[in-house]
Amino acid sequence: MRAVMRRTPRPLREAAPTSPARGTRDRAGSSGRPGLDARSARILTIGELALGVAHDLGNQLAVIRACAAQLGELRGLDPDAREAVADLSIAVQRSAELTRRVLDFARGVAPRRGPVDLHVVLERTAALLRRATGAQVRVAVEAGARAPIVDGDPADLENALLNLGLNASEAMPRGGSVVFSTADVELDGEASASPPPGPYVRIVVADEGVGIPPADLARVFEPFFTTKPSGTGLGLPIVREVVERHGGSIAVVSGTTGTTFAVLLPRAATAGEPPEGPAAA
Ligand SMILES: Nc1ncnc2c1ncn2[C@@H]1O[C@H](COP(=O)(O)OP(=O)(O)O)[C@@H](O)[C@H]1O
Ligand SMILES: [Mg+2]
Repeated sequence: MRAVMRRTPRPLREAAPTSPARGTRDRAGSSGRPGLDARSARILTIGELALGVAHDLGNQLAVIRACAAQLGELRGLDPDAREAVADLSIAVQRSAELTRRVLDFARGVAPRRGPVDLHVVLERTAALLRRATGAQVRVAVEAGARAPIVDGDPADLENALLNLGLNASEAMPRGGSVVFSTADVELDGEASASPPPGPYVRIVVADEGVGIPPADLARVFEPFFTTKPSGTGLGLPIVREVVERHGGSIAVVSGTTGTTFAVLLPRAATAGEPPEGPAAA
């Protein structure tokens, strides 16, 4: 790990020298990086920066993880402290997983693939969301799909659904419900349609929050679009990236109260047809 990424990221200003001079023709020259305009150069630099951060963070997390493990072995911890240590270990584990994925992505390592039970993922997501939000936010899962199996990366999918859940709870400062629900869906239509016809699992994330004004609705998936004082505007672009990498699609509907994100993911070929009769509880 230590040997993999030694390069210290360049500071942003070095390679992304402000906006190009007005009327400049030489776009390549203006970025300070041959063949790249200023925006592409800036994105490239952000990528390098993220890589450096991921690498160094990985090392720090290894230290935190070792300390958490030591704490966990202490005798005589009261149950609250023991639970806090367990939470700490889980959070460190998840953070290490995130940094590993950034580094894998940079090295071109293919994302993991395998059958994923979306109901298991949703239960985990809901449990994390309940911990992350106050008691005024109710989190429910309505597992309606009978064949909730997709082909993909469970950690990526959990992260995407958690992002949707966090946005939902952030939209309800005075509380309310976030409901995750699933259904089996059969899309028909042209073979060239996007997403193409076939069996899908639909996951809907519905909240009772402030809603999204029409002018913002078209922009919520844009990188860096945020209406929050300390937002990053990177949640939804990443969610969409993950969904599309899994062959799915995402849509949003919102009014003056409440927002609904609907995610479609292709059902895994191995999942078979949903069995007849009512869904198992
Ligand atoms: N459930 C939601 N209810 C209301 N607004 C939302 C919701 N989800 C997303 N948004 C809007 O989309 C913007 C972008 O979301 P996101 O990409 O997750 O970035 P961030 O959460 O950092 O602002 C948010 O700032 C907010 O304006
Ligand atoms: Mg967000």
